[in-house]
Amino acid sequence: MNSSSDSPILEVHNLGVAFLNGQGPLQALEEISFNIQARQFVCIVGPSGSGKSTLLRILGGLLSPTNGEVIFNGSPLKGPRQGVGMVFQNANLMPWRTVIENIALPLEVQGVSVQETQSLAKELVTLVGLSGFEDWLPRDLSGGMAQRVAIARALIHDPDLLLLDEPFGALDALTRERMGSELLRIWRVHRKTVIMVTHNISEAVFLADRVLAISPQPGQLRLDMEVNLPRPRQDIDRYSADFVALTHNLRDALR
Ligand SMILES: Nc1ncnc2c1ncn2[C@@H]1O[C@H](COP(=O)(O)OP(=O)(O)OP(=O)(O)O)[C@@H](O)[C@H]1O
Ligand SMILES: [Mg+2]
Repeated sequence: MNSSSDSPILEVHNLGVAFLNGQGPLQALEEISFNIQARQFVCIVGPSGSGKSTLLRILGGLLSPTNGEVIFNGSPLKGPRQGVGMVFQNANLMPWRTVIENIALPLEVQGVSVQETQSLAKELVTLVGLSGFEDWLPRDLSGGMAQRVAIARALIHDPDLLLLDEPFGALDALTRERMGSELLRIWRVHRKTVIMVTHNISEAVFLADRVLAISPQPGQLRLDMEVNLPRPRQDIDRYSADFVALTHNLRDALR
């Protein structure tokens, strides 16, 4: 697997997506091009309906673009592939499976040995801070705990690329900030490439190395902004002049 730090893990060339719905054709995304370096943390922001989920589904190989192409680790992306983990807006857990059984599911489906699956699932339970909750069912978990299970489940393949669609969308502001810091910690330890969709401008600046802003329909790339704030970042950094200036840039681009 290609993981050298200066080669792009993803290249997106002139991407366009048109849908046909009940109202006629709809251009969801238009002429989108960008590269993502391995191990970058990238956030995608944009108004509702601008095509963020569509873009993420394309990057995950779940949807083929109408125009353009995506190159993943040097080869054209033709469909879902193993080096990618996805987390959707709602956790999508199997209600009858416990925390550990949900996390283990992708490996079970692949026929990995029970022993190896169990030991990996246990490691991930600890990583996402759910030790002691292994045998709980989804109905007994808070929204934040369920999202952590979904993140652990996406990590169990040891993916190069983690795609997160509004993973904290349903959480209150404080839990959301805590989960953001948790995700940064996991990213630091595992050195994944992370692409995360969020509506929250301040969250994007706090988490990302780089933020892509998408315009309203048809979704086009309005701004590709580096976030050169030092790491590790702390909550207090949200009030710094540099931080505030970056959030202003983003807001202007989305206006
Ligand atoms: N499978 C589909 N068939 C037809 N139209 C679709 C399909 N998927 C998405 N769309 C349309 O494409 C546009 C972009 O949708 P998408 O879900 O990507 O937006 P989004 O930026 O993720 O929005 P939100 O922030 O509300 O989640 C919308 O107008 C939506 O109605
Ligand atoms: Mg969406």
